[in-house]
Amino acid sequence: MSDVTKTLIFDNGIVINYEPEMDGGGAIQYKDFLTYLKSTGKTYKHCFEWCSGLGAVGFSLLDAGICESLTCMDVYEPAIISTLQNAEDNNVSDKVKAYHLDAVHKLPKDLKFDLVIGNPPHSPGNPQNWEGHWYRIIIDPEWRLHKEFFANIGPYLEPNSDIILSETHTIIEDITNMAEAQGLKFVDLITDLESYRGNNNGHGVLHVYNN
Ligand SMILES: C[S@@+](CC[C@H](N)C(=O)[O-])C[C@H]1O[C@@H](n2cnc3c(N)ncnc32)[C@H](O)[C@@H]1O
Repeated sequence: MSDVTKTLIFDNGIVINYEPEMDGGGAIQYKDFLTYLKSTGKTYKHCFEWCSGLGAVGFSLLDAGICESLTCMDVYEPAIISTLQNAEDNNVSDKVKAYHLDAVHKLPKDLKFDLVIGNPPHSPGNPQNWEGHWYRIIIDPEWRLHKEFFANIGPYLEPNSDIILSETHTIIEDITNMAEAQGLKFVDLITDLESYRGNNNGHGVLHVYNN
């Protein structure tokens, strides 16, 4: 792990520390989730952050009072240890759980969420031959992770739950097809994301679904 520790300070006082290897864009993109969710005016009891890494999106929603509690999950164990430490340091351990897991179906069966957020790896192929941390952050080989997520998230959802995923514009139909095949309803595609304005490196979108 890197010895460079970074810090994010949210508006209402939650502060998180993280290492660069835990960040797949969330340190900037959490603002897109916040802006969208604030625009809906909705609040939630229990948010699940899939592929949570540093947990910036989830902690920022907790900080804003958009969710009352947060469960994080990531395959990278240092990120989960860091999430639990951040929860303790912010005196919110009673509101935050974090699981070191590689598949949604391995979560405890009694968990129920009314909001699911995620910035998962979203490249099904590896033309640039990414390795190591970059492979873990960027590549979802043949959509294995996404397929597992959509196939198994249903039983964890309360009725009328919202699912918001950060993806890229090149793969919109791939994702909507997988979601709708599992009975989720497509609600919205948010294309004008603050984090990508003026940036030539990518075209991020948020997918919004409901069950
Ligand atoms: C694009 S990064 C996003 C990280 C963080 N949520 C953010 O927004 O910066 C994707 C994350 O997915 C995690 N990941 C990769 N494969 C996974 C799996 N099978 N199960 C859970 N998490 C996984 C990676 O460790 C990484 O933290």
